[in-house]
Amino acid sequence: MLKRKIVIDTDPGIDDTIALTVAINSGLNIELVTTVFGNVNLEQTTINALRILEFLGKDIPVAKGVPRALFFDPGIDGSHVHGVDGLGGYPMPYPKTKVVDQVAVEAIKDLIEKSEENITLVALGALTNIALFIKIYPHLLDKIEEIVVMGGSLGAGNVNSAAEFNTFKDPHAAKIVFDSSVKVTVFGLDVTRFCLVSSQKLEENKNKSKVSSMAREILKGYIEENNELMMHDSAPIAYLVHPEIFDIEDKYIDVSTDERAPGALVSGFWTKEKDKKPNVRFAVNVDSKKFEEWLLANLV
Ligand code: RIB
Ligand code: CA
Repeated sequence: MLKRKIVIDTDPGIDDTIALTVAINSGLNIELVTTVFGNVNLEQTTINALRILEFLGKDIPVAKGVPRALFFDPGIDGSHVHGVDGLGGYPMPYPKTKVVDQVAVEAIKDLIEKSEENITLVALGALTNIALFIKIYPHLLDKIEEIVVMGGSLGAGNVNSAAEFNTFKDPHAAKIVFDSSVKVTVFGLDVTRFCLVSSQKLEENKNKSKVSSMAREILKGYIEENNELMMHDSAPIAYLVHPEIFDIEDKYIDVSTDERAPGALVSGFWTKEKDKKPNVRFAVNVDSKKFEEWLLANLV
């Protein structure tokens, strides 16, 4: 899994920052980072992606994505969790580097066309860029190894009782991705709420390096429950490095685009869909201890 060619689509975002950091420190081969609206607006998520990569000393191209959802615009962002700057006010220097000329969908297309190997797309925000790629370049889908998604919840939501934030922000895009012909592996709140790191352990590690200090400080403003922090966006990264710590099941999952429950995931047992063949692979369990050990080992 480590040598796969990876594109990370992200809306940094505090937990996106941690995910990008552990992705780089785990040795993943990240060819491109693309940005999407979500936690904060697209301008800010794009600046943040550049800031994070410069802070980490990584020369990875960044391509700017789309500023809004395909159809549904709930009019909310994640700034109440991630701060108005998207990084919880952490004083990460503003970037000197610029985005590439192509927009996200075109940068992904160019990468795929130039690559002999298949490309893995990792989505840590709304799925709008990925859905647009699927619709605009259907003839290139066989060059996508897998789409690995942080999003959705078969259980309770976090943006409301039914929906998780990323699928809520663009339910139509999520439905396009889930129903595509590509291998899609989904990490919903069902497991990401158990992808935890202890704030005490972050505190103990904070003086080890610039990265461990940043991780402690940037997470100080993040939602904490019982001294634990949910590292939602690091779950897909952990899967690419240590797939064995997750249990994953093939399921038929529909994404509600109904305005009464936008972004809610539906997967019935005794419904008319029960004879539907599975459309996604869905993570149903995680070894939280091994997840935390891996995360902390890569936040130094
Ligand atoms: O629900 C968690 C997701 O929403 C994460 O991707 C977090 O960054 C926010 O975008
Ligand atoms: Ca995110």
